[in-house]
Amino acid sequence: MFNSWESLKNNCINCTKCDLCKTRTNLVFGYGNENAEVMFIGEGPGEQEDLQGKPFVGRSGKLLDSMLSEIGLNREKNIYIANIVKCRPPKNRDPLPIEQELCIDWLRNQFKLLSPKIVVAVGRIASMKIIDENIKITRDHGTFYKKKGIWFMPTIHPAAILRNMNQKPSVEQDFQKLKNKILEICSNTY
Ligand code: URA
Repeated sequence: MFNSWESLKNNCINCTKCDLCKTRTNLVFGYGNENAEVMFIGEGPGEQEDLQGKPFVGRSGKLLDSMLSEIGLNREKNIYIANIVKCRPPKNRDPLPIEQELCIDWLRNQFKLLSPKIVVAVGRIASMKIIDENIKITRDHGTFYKKKGIWFMPTIHPAAILRNMNQKPSVEQDFQKLKNKILEICSNTY
């Protein structure tokens, strides 16, 4: 439908498909290398993301960046990050199913332009929406699922790690599995 990132972004940025547009400061389109082989998909913008117009720039984002750097990934260089919903849900509530449904076409178009080899779903909401509605994040994180030739891995959201740091080592294991998968199937990431 869109043949360039520019046209997709220009259309998305003025989106009024759902009521979240009424309360946003900035729409958070996505960020990173538009040729990356690895895509990260979160849930939706929080306060800092809404203020700055970029994904994962608050406390969760700092933790995500540090876990990414441990496996040689960097949003400036070799990954692309987007969210299921592009506008902040009030008080950081979960995005409603209707908001997710109305927004998901933007993500589908980002996915088509990027054509990633690996997709990491960050957190329960993203994992259930893009991998399988029956995913249980505490049970299934770190498992790879192959769909139409592309590998998908759910992982625990950094905001959940910040609430319970005991989970950090097992999420670091997810990231090690991700690194191994990249080494196995990607050609331009490292
Ligand atoms: N949490 C998310 O899921 N996405 C962001 O962009 C920020 C926090």
